[in-house]
Amino acid sequence: MSTVATDIDALWMPFTANRDFKKNPRIISGAEGHHYIAADGTRLYDMFSGLWTSGVGHCHPKIVAAVQKQVAELDYCMSFQMGNDKAFALAERVIDMAPDGFSNAFFTNSGSESVDTALKIALAYHRARGEGNRTRLIGREKGYHGVNFGGMSVGGIVPNRKVFSANLIPGVDHIRHTLNINENAFSRKQPEWGTHLADDLQRLAELHDGSNIAAVIVEPVAGSAGVLPPPAGYLERLREICDQHGILLIFDEVITAFGRLGTAFGAQRFGVTPDIITSAKGLTNGVVPMGCVLVQEHIHDAFMQGPEHMVELFHGYTYSGHPLAAAAGLAVMDVYEEEGTFEQAAALEQTFEDILHSFKDHEKVIDIRNFGLMGSIELAPRKGDPGARGLEIHKKCFWDEKLVVRNGMDVLQFSPFLNSNVDDMQQSFEAIRRVIDSVD
Ligand SMILES: Cc1ncc(COP(=O)(O)O)c(C=O)c1O
Repeated sequence: MSTVATDIDALWMPFTANRDFKKNPRIISGAEGHHYIAADGTRLYDMFSGLWTSGVGHCHPKIVAAVQKQVAELDYCMSFQMGNDKAFALAERVIDMAPDGFSNAFFTNSGSESVDTALKIALAYHRARGEGNRTRLIGREKGYHGVNFGGMSVGGIVPNRKVFSANLIPGVDHIRHTLNINENAFSRKQPEWGTHLADDLQRLAELHDGSNIAAVIVEPVAGSAGVLPPPAGYLERLREICDQHGILLIFDEVITAFGRLGTAFGAQRFGVTPDIITSAKGLTNGVVPMGCVLVQEHIHDAFMQGPEHMVELFHGYTYSGHPLAAAAGLAVMDVYEEEGTFEQAAALEQTFEDILHSFKDHEKVIDIRNFGLMGSIELAPRKGDPGARGLEIHKKCFWDEKLVVRNGMDVLQFSPFLNSNVDDMQQSFEAIRRVIDSVD
């Protein structure tokens, strides 16, 4: 049986222009450290560290060894009314890194599942405390919270919602997004303008009465919408409004957790503590799919009532806390500690910012945004053809410069490795400049 496709049509690819891709496919068959390796042996530098996933690099020997060992020892174990040793150990490690007050971790298999799990926990928490009237969920325009029905409904990326508009879950509202190029173009880190946009939550609390709102979910730094750092004071203001009305604050840290902002969680970097945190990606360095929802003790404890033999939360996945994923996660936590990964990321932040902002005067560039090791360069769209310039740059970087750069429409997004080498970063951006110069 062949493991090489003779016809690539059978795979329906996610978030991909399938017909365009299959005319000239970009297929990877290996990876090592900071590079992908194509089937013909070509090495490509990965400027997106997977998909914001692989902060310590690909095929890290310590993580590979842990997964190999685990698969031979315990391949799978049911996690309902039983549990595997690695899942308990990983929960403890993650909680140890979490902001003060967090006590419990619930495992999922992806960011999308983490988000839907968090929304369900928020609703069930209020009900367990006799506040079942708190049913409304608040998201934010331009937010990305995955593709399941809950996350899509609180999300605010229009193309992701459009086709499913009539079937989004009811009782959801959105606060305004914080992107304003007129006011904030080329801000470094957090923009000054826009703190007042958090007051949109107050408006919704007045409209619905705060006592009907269960939770608000935001990414501390919006990623998929093109890297939108929060205006200075914005997250603090959201926290205040939540406290005032008894609304739970959920930080979707699927991208920002595990070092991307130079700290274990974005919450610690911003000094704002949510009630619930969702994570995935860096939890296993992308090696085995896994997500995790972290909750504060008061949330977990609200469920621990009634007869002890009863299930407290009717929710979970066949693969929650999967032994391979948990083994990968434990090895990743060791690597983070032993190699000082979060400190490495923090030390790279200024260099990354300076390199990015060296594109400020480029004629095709209309904005540059960055925070931690998240960055974006927004290009002016071609007249009448939005997104075409961005995709062409992605492809030219791949073919001509052997460089993986992600584009969301005309926004080039960068997620450098947390342990990047500065020379590689500089050379990659020189290549990106050549490509931006060369396209229409
Ligand atoms: C903030 C955020 N939430 C949720 C998700 C969804 O994660 P997944 O693709 O693992 O389902 C993502 C994915 O990029 C994300 O960035």
